Amino acid sequence: MSHPLSSMNTADATLNLRGVSRSFGNAKALDGITLSVRDGEMVAVLGRSGAGKSTLLNLINRLIDPTEGEIWCGERNVSQLRGRALLDWRRESAMIFQRFNLVSRLNVITNVLTGRLAHAPRLPKLIGRFTDHDRDVAIDALEALGMAEFALRRADELSGGQQQRVAIARALVQQPRIILADEPVASLDPVNSRAVMEALRHINQHRGITVLCNLHSVPLAREYCERAVALAKGKLVYDGPVSGLDDATLAVIYGSTDALAEAH
Ligand SMILES: Nc1ncnc2c1ncn2[C@@H]1O[C@H](COP(=O)(O)OP(=O)(O)OP(=O)(O)O)[C@@H](O)[C@H]1O
Ligand SMILES: [Mg+2]
Repeated sequence: MSHPLSSMNTADATLNLRGVSRSFGNAKALDGITLSVRDGEMVAVLGRSGAGKSTLLNLINRLIDPTEGEIWCGERNVSQLRGRALLDWRRESAMIFQRFNLVSRLNVITNVLTGRLAHAPRLPKLIGRFTDHDRDVAIDALEALGMAEFALRRADELSGGQQQRVAIARALVQQPRIILADEPVASLDPVNSRAVMEALRHINQHRGITVLCNLHSVPLAREYCERAVALAKGKLVYDGPVSGLDDATLAVIYGSTDALAEAH
């Protein structure tokens, strides 16, 4: 296993997982994960189906809690956050899913504006009661993703790749510091997959947002991410540059040659 980043100063790392495990019944979905991700990194999370990739992102976002270990962001113990502080953390760590979950009969700009609800001071704002500032932020996000011209189109009139870019714009208006993308391109064709990966890279590079992206495709990881972490049966089996994903390493990650062929 290669750990070229292990010498970095973890004190200034954005996100630190320290010995994190998560069990479901007797089964350990994640087992003793220690990992640091600095501000502004774009990291691919690789592994076979069931390896623990979604569990990892869900733990970071606090959709679930660890059974052992701690997650820190700077000086904050993420695993201990409650109430308002937990809501703030969820706003800061926006999730993107394979299914875009847009409201199909609403137009694009309204879908994006729903991402601003995380900024609502107390009671959720009603649709149509967004401020001019909210609208400016939403248009700005659509422009960043090359989707501004579709602002008034119904969400269900867009292609899958376009809908995913709208979902990313909706995440962007939360003004997150981290985007947790769980197989964002799994249901897209190659052209749309690349458009979505380009969009994630764009916001990573131009807005400094950290991106953790679960991927089934090693070529996409190689092309769009500098660093990969890989899980196998809940354990971290690789953490290093994507250039280190040689055949021997991929065999450890994917186990059988069949699974390896799928990931190529
Ligand atoms: N809520 C749950 N209840 C019980 N077991 C779960 C739950 N969530 C995940 N698991 C188990 O934990 C393990 C890891 O699941 P996880 O969804 O994190 O894998 P994954 O790497 O995201 O897989 P995939 O590539 O198929 O999405 C699996 O064995 C899964 O069955
Ligand atoms: Mg998953």
